[in-house]
Amino acid sequence: MEKRIDGKAIAAAVRGQVKTDTAAMKADGITPGLAVVLVGDDPASRTYVRNKHKDCEETGIYSEVHHLPDSTSQKDLMALIAELNARADIDGILVQLPLPKGLDEREVINAIAPDKDVDAFHPENVGHIMIGDYTFLPCTPSGVMEMLHHEQIPVDGKRCVVVGRSNIVGKPMAMLLLHENGTVTICHSHTQKLKEICQEADILVAAVGRPKFITADMVKPGAVVIDVGMDRDENGKLCGDVDYAAVEPIASRITPVPGGVGPMTRAMLLKNTLTAARLHHRQAQPSDRE
Ligand code: GUN
Repeated sequence: MEKRIDGKAIAAAVRGQVKTDTAAMKADGITPGLAVVLVGDDPASRTYVRNKHKDCEETGIYSEVHHLPDSTSQKDLMALIAELNARADIDGILVQLPLPKGLDEREVINAIAPDKDVDAFHPENVGHIMIGDYTFLPCTPSGVMEMLHHEQIPVDGKRCVVVGRSNIVGKPMAMLLLHENGTVTICHSHTQKLKEICQEADILVAAVGRPKFITADMVKPGAVVIDVGMDRDENGKLCGDVDYAAVEPIASRITPVPGGVGPMTRAMLLKNTLTAARLHHRQAQPSDRE
């Protein structure tokens, strides 16, 4: 079996399903709609937003991008969120992070209507994830789980180590692995004996944001290695948090960068947008029994 997990191919399959589902919804008179808000001109964020718009166009989802200048005030940004919350044609709202300095990210996230929060960053959705009765999952961790399922990689009873504790990836990733009965450890910058802990992992998820941080001596032979990183190496070339060339011979399965987790993240946003559209349609048309 090929060691490399082809995120690009799995994401294409997810997009195919989204396209079919969107067409069926449109036939029922529902057009799923996504609004993406980008503040400032961070080049990476611009690329991410452009790709999200392209994915929507390709799958038939309505999408609009609100590109605001760096100088946007908190008040104006909050007013835009309120406007998008109130619009019936918008099912999902995504504010691209990080926001420029001076803007209060938490206040913005908290203002997004939880039923339009396709990132699942709102505290209400985070709480649902903790309990396990969620509607939305954050796109990157759910993309990783989708990959594991697609590749039939079991989690139950496995030692899972997540390196990184961000609200966007590390923490929810650990929770999703726990929900599937993994024995999960979260490591971070203060962790002692990081190498030894990583060496115990059957499933090692790297989400630290440091190029080639996970080296061959940190990986148990036969481990499944998932690389969430999107970094630049010393030559400015795109790479992940894992030293792929050195780790690939040791791992049983491994995700590349690019072409691994990144395309999955994009695909899961589309799925979340359809979920939001279904939710809103159900709310708008209560069943006969209600
Ligand atoms: N910036 C980096 N990753 C993400 C993400 O998943 N969602 C949003 N909104 N911003 C991001």
